Amino acid sequence: MDDVVARLRAVEEDGLARLAAAETTAEIESLEREVLGNASAVAEARRSLRGLSDEQRREMGRAINDIAGRLQERISTRRAEVTAVEEVTRLEKERLDITLPGRAPARGAAHLVMQVFEEVTDIFVALGYTVADGPEAETAYYHFDALNTPPTHPARLESATLYVEHGSDPEGVLLRAQTSPVQVRYMEKHPPPVYLVSPGRVFRRDTMDATHTPVFHQIEGLAVDTDVTFADLKGTLAHFARQFFGPRQKVRFVPHFFPFTEPSAELHTSCFACGGSGCRVCGGSGWIELLGCGVVDPNVFEAVGYDPTAVSGFAFGVGLDRLAMIRHGVPELRYFFDPDLRVLEQFR
Ligand code: DAH
Repeated sequence: MDDVVARLRAVEEDGLARLAAAETTAEIESLEREVLGNASAVAEARRSLRGLSDEQRREMGRAINDIAGRLQERISTRRAEVTAVEEVTRLEKERLDITLPGRAPARGAAHLVMQVFEEVTDIFVALGYTVADGPEAETAYYHFDALNTPPTHPARLESATLYVEHGSDPEGVLLRAQTSPVQVRYMEKHPPPVYLVSPGRVFRRDTMDATHTPVFHQIEGLAVDTDVTFADLKGTLAHFARQFFGPRQKVRFVPHFFPFTEPSAELHTSCFACGGSGCRVCGGSGWIELLGCGVVDPNVFEAVGYDPTAVSGFAFGVGLDRLAMIRHGVPELRYFFDPDLRVLEQFR
């Protein structure tokens, strides 16, 4: 009997030492099973009580219960301590700092050229112009013939124009180099009066430099009514220039030639880079060509079935990328086509 008690004491001592070293509730639980569970020395000792006399059973039973009671108590105490530490650790680990500002999703913005595209369109819409669209692959008829541009005109040369392989005529379809054919398409379908703008993409066989890229954007304008004169053209485009650049930008009209207008002019504006003294950007002249314009040639009216003796009109075509460069002081047109966000993000 004394051996049994001595062995239980040894189990108790060993158990208490291991308990003190235990650091997780899982360790404590497995220890508890080992020292107090069904297969433990304590349980075994309890089972052996059956064979003893009453007195021995009482004495031995008390000894076993004392040991078991102490073990149970120390296990509970240690479990409480370890659980508390575990809880603190868990809370620390799961901590969520709700005072941190969230990560804002990056906001996109329209490209500067598209902003200008919309803005210029709006200036004319406010004057009562409608907006129309045309195809980017255009026929030579709409692009040249109906616009009074004879087959010998240099713009029709292969070296100047991007022809598209389509149909039997190698020069029958091209990527439009101007938005002007929309004038013809629109007038064919609508009787006068016409107040039209048509913004869009155009394509040219140009070598890249500070102010040329093979793809760029134009907005076409056309006004046809009774008694429209060159004075209306000047007034309208001066209004546009003031709206877009503000009252300080200098502009001038310079005589020019376009096949579909007579007389024709270019509207120039003072160079944004040098202020007019002459530099690489303006080619030394101090002026930058802004747009082409003129009084609609009677041959164009005839091509669309309008009576040139009954109506008159003016037309213009503006490079939108160029407008964006001038107003925002962008020195290289190609910045608009390079996907460099450091440049593009400046224009939100
Ligand atoms: N289409 C011409 C160009 O791309 C610009 C132009 C000039 C358009 C005169 C017009 C105009 O409507 O009347 O250079």
